[in-house]
Amino acid sequence: MPAPPSTINQAKDIANMSDLEKKHVPMIHIGGTPRAGEPFEVTVWLGEQLPHPMEMEHHIEFIDLYLDDMFLARCDLTWGYTYPKACFTAVLERSGTLRAFERCNVHGDWTYNLEVNV
Ligand SMILES: [Fe+2]
Repeated sequence: MPAPPSTINQAKDIANMSDLEKKHVPMIHIGGTPRAGEPFEVTVWLGEQLPHPMEMEHHIEFIDLYLDDMFLARCDLTWGYTYPKACFTAVLERSGTLRAFERCNVHGDWTYNLEVNV
């Protein structure tokens, strides 16, 4: 089970991101209204505003999803064949903070947090 990365970048102002932040911050989208014990969709999408390259020299390696400090899921990505967007199905018994992480092979680890109430 992977541990959250130790050095992590995040947007300084989510409403006014730099181009580097727009390419790397993994935004979290929740499908519907989460209810305790019921599955719901969590989509993590980076580069929504400014697409990130998926080339050998520069690409996203994976997208991880955590609830607080607990690892939930990972989506490994292959450059040249994938797009940095992952759809997970979560089942939560309690409210908490969904934390998305992604790793760029050039620009390091990036995160975004979203409170979720069930
Ligand atoms: Fe990058």
